Amino acid sequence: MLHGKRILLIISGGIAAYKCLDLIRRLRERGASVRCVLTDAATQFVTPLSVSALSEDRVYGDLFSLTDEAEMGHIQLSRDADLLVVAPATTNIMAKMAQGIGDDLATTVLLATDKDVLVAPSMNVRMWEHAATQENITTLKSRGIRFAGPTEGNMACGEFGEGRMVEPLEIVAEIETYFAASAPLAGRRAVVTSGPTLEAIDPVRYIANRSSGKQGHAIAAALAGMGAETILVTGPTSEAAPPGVEVHHIESAREMYDACMSALPADIAVCAAAVADWRPAEQGDSKIKKEHDAAPPRIEMIENPDILRTLSAAGNQRPALVVGFAAETDNLIENATSKRKRKGCDWIVANDVSPETGTFGGETNTVHLITGTDTEAWPAMRKTDVADRLAERIAHHFDQNTEAAE
Ligand code: PMT
Repeated sequence: MLHGKRILLIISGGIAAYKCLDLIRRLRERGASVRCVLTDAATQFVTPLSVSALSEDRVYGDLFSLTDEAEMGHIQLSRDADLLVVAPATTNIMAKMAQGIGDDLATTVLLATDKDVLVAPSMNVRMWEHAATQENITTLKSRGIRFAGPTEGNMACGEFGEGRMVEPLEIVAEIETYFAASAPLAGRRAVVTSGPTLEAIDPVRYIANRSSGKQGHAIAAALAGMGAETILVTGPTSEAAPPGVEVHHIESAREMYDACMSALPADIAVCAAAVADWRPAEQGDSKIKKEHDAAPPRIEMIENPDILRTLSAAGNQRPALVVGFAAETDNLIENATSKRKRKGCDWIVANDVSPETGTFGGETNTVHLITGTDTEAWPAMRKTDVADRLAERIAHHFDQNTEAAE
């Protein structure tokens, strides 16, 4: 969800500062970069070394450091960020923010910024309830400062009440919500299929294919990263669930079909799964016995439902943009072009899956995007980059259509 987002994290001096180490880790595992500014008081609770190790960046703290100002001025710190987060935010730093005091690097950056600021307060219950704090909060909220928490609970000082900093994952969720609201696909819903399907022969045997789910999962992650509410319907894979994506695990093509149809309505459908075209006509309840000297069994196959074709012809339930994939070993463009027409989808992504390409299961893919008006050859790239580029094209498509409708 936070792929490529730049967070400037200002850590002020409260006991909850230790939770920031986890916050940095959580943000970074979601693809954000985190640059940190520590107040003097914060260094009493966490060491710059720990913060630097987790953020994999140097840590800033001294307003009057000649080297810091030369390398990265305090104005540049906020210019380089997409969002400023103050966590923990003590009553002291919030008072300075409300009064416009800039007497150290953290508060000067907060005064100098034109970026949005999210604050996660942390303090004793009586400090939180104090009229001065409450007035400062009202002032900060009236200026558009966003708040995550605080929450109620046992405090490090032994008291109970409101003032505890919310947990790092709740701060992450607030940050994700912030970016999702301004994301290019915010308000759109996407269904993505990924991975192989397994077609049972009997309770222990099945027919499958070599799809790893890497391409489909990356597409779901990219669409979610652009703010789309994303449902991923996937066959068995070892790929991790992409953050911020609702995942439905299925095995057979018929289960994938049912899960996709129940996910409608949607604005976008991307079918990257390698769905088995056929399945055994009979799936016995017991294991087929290998009889001595008997001929191998003959497996009669019947056709599976075509998910892409059904989505493309779903009447008023049809997603506004339906994107299929064409996995070809010969005549890539010719076959993919006629597949686009046959399936009725808007775009088709053609990829060569001949064994020497390593497309099935590999990290990279070389694709052509066939839109009906254009055929674009994309260079070989990582599947995650194919996914990002496709998501950008999808966002651009909706952008253009919205502009045309206005
Ligand atoms: O999973 P990876 O290892 O990362 O590999 C990625 C991939 C090669 C599987 C992927 O990039 C890809 O090409 N997916 C489509 C594979 C495929 O089944 O292609 P096809 O040409 O047979 O099918 C055409 C389209 O119809 C596809 O969008 C497919 O999802 C869809 N289809 C096919 C049959 C069916 N019964 N229902 C479908 O929806």
